[in-house]
Amino acid sequence: MSNRKKIVFLTGAGMSAESGISTFRDAGGLWEQYPVMQVASHTGWLQDPDLVTRFYNERRRQLFTTQPCGGHKLVASLEQDHEVVVITQNVDDLHERAGSTNVIHLHGELLKVCSSRDVENPRYWQTLTPDNYEVVPGTLAADGSLLRPYIVFFEEAVPMIAPAAEQVGKADVFVIIGTSLNVYPAAGLINYTRSGIPIYLIDPKDVSVPYGFNVTHIKAGATEGMKQIVEKLRRI
Ligand code: APR
Repeated sequence: MSNRKKIVFLTGAGMSAESGISTFRDAGGLWEQYPVMQVASHTGWLQDPDLVTRFYNERRRQLFTTQPCGGHKLVASLEQDHEVVVITQNVDDLHERAGSTNVIHLHGELLKVCSSRDVENPRYWQTLTPDNYEVVPGTLAADGSLLRPYIVFFEEAVPMIAPAAEQVGKADVFVIIGTSLNVYPAAGLINYTRSGIPIYLIDPKDVSVPYGFNVTHIKAGATEGMKQIVEKLRRI
């Protein structure tokens, strides 16, 4: 009897920390260096689109200097024996570059830009590449509106939350990696798990999770934690 399981991951900035990408709320994190409401909120975009455009140009430049870490690769390797869905709050493409084939980006994608009038219309999406990643402030999308990062800004809806919740509701195992669970609705996904399924949380620090869930905290970084998950999955 194969022990093929449906494993659903929820990852956050800590998943990419070992790839060298700074998290948001750790000491020295991104929100310590930039006023989050100026560079990552809808209001901030309306007030100074050039600043926001330059901020994401810089984050894209940094992304191209990084590689997937061991944790990304171990997540991807589980696809050999299990059905794996990766729900990520991260806007980098490190899960995809590590080989994960089923990734849901809740907060958008750094390598995509879109119309600022019709964000979800794929007709106006453009994918940026290492040799074409900088958006000149003021550039227009094909519908004549300002081209903007395909990022879910604070104050905006999270269009992928429903498909993500549906996947969590079908999980046999739920694994949370590298997120402080501060931001909703992503942090509320744990509530969609079927009662009693094993939930693992990989994080070197303590993270508060709601009561009543069967959560095992693996107090380690993403790569070391995923090594332990792979071992555990061999035994269940
Ligand atoms: N391995 C695993 N986890 C780590 C590591 C590591 N090497 N280093 C740090 N962490 C943990 C931290 O302890 C923290 O719990 O990663 C978590 C990072 O939390 P945040 O910085 O709050 O990032 P995240 O939870 O992804 O933020 C959610 O907030 O600003 C918005 O849109 C942004 O998607 C982001 C959302």
